[in-house]
Amino acid sequence: MGTISKGPLESLDQWDDDVRVRYDTDKKKEEFRVYDDKTPQVVRNFYKLNHEQQTLEFVLGKKQQYTGLTTGKMGIWEAMEKLDTLVDDSDPDTDLSQIDHNLQTAEAMRADGHPRWMILTGFIHDLGKVLTLYGEPQWAVVGDTFPVGCRWSEKIVYPEYFQENPDSGDARLMSRYGVYDEQIGLENIHLSWGHDEYLYHVTKQYLPEEAQYMIRYHSWYSAHRELDYQYLMSDHDMKMMDQVRNFNPYDLYSKSAEKPDRKTLEPFYRELIAEYFPAEIRW
Ligand SMILES: [Fe+2]
Ligand SMILES: [Fe+2]
Repeated sequence: MGTISKGPLESLDQWDDDVRVRYDTDKKKEEFRVYDDKTPQVVRNFYKLNHEQQTLEFVLGKKQQYTGLTTGKMGIWEAMEKLDTLVDDSDPDTDLSQIDHNLQTAEAMRADGHPRWMILTGFIHDLGKVLTLYGEPQWAVVGDTFPVGCRWSEKIVYPEYFQENPDSGDARLMSRYGVYDEQIGLENIHLSWGHDEYLYHVTKQYLPEEAQYMIRYHSWYSAHRELDYQYLMSDHDMKMMDQVRNFNPYDLYSKSAEKPDRKTLEPFYRELIAEYFPAEIRW
């Protein structure tokens, strides 16, 4: 614990900020074309590392390592505070902490009258970033997620960085369906490893299915935003991806400079957590 993994990004938030700029709703068509030039070099370096090293074999290895939940036991609130300390330590200039982002996401849902399970999902959705505390590199914690084991979508940001991914030399993995079948269903697809997939495994037994989809697929922009990869989804997945689309604007656009009042909000969120989770869960 307390180990801060070094990576090209100045902080984990820098990737989230980049996605926000990419999908800025106020951005005009012509501005999309200059997106690449305006992206900081460290962010590009980050995507390069991510795209080159997230192979099917890498993902299977991380699933083996983490999804048995043998890393330790921790309460949800405790995990949140650990993550907060980490981010503050690694990024002293950050205006908003992780907990602030989680509170803003959840509070925006609450203001719109969404059900309690969804507010809770908004509050915890990024907790998988504790992977950083285990020493995982940034490119295996954050970043747009995408299926491994089949051809990459052209809709994934910086697709050219996949050229150096070892899977690109394996014809079996580079066909449209790869190791999968048409409409095989998302539970059979391996996505690139990161905070989404990890938290899904940590929390799935406690949350409704809609929440599981929101947590597991919230960084899969090529699917929920660009609408690619539908050929791997079942009819049920297609319906559930609407839930991910309901979730996404709160994650992206609820960020404001105004700091949420943590002390006032804490009792509400502690109670909400206790409604769904035991005091400690396995990580
Ligand atoms: Fe996230
Ligand atoms: Fe987020």
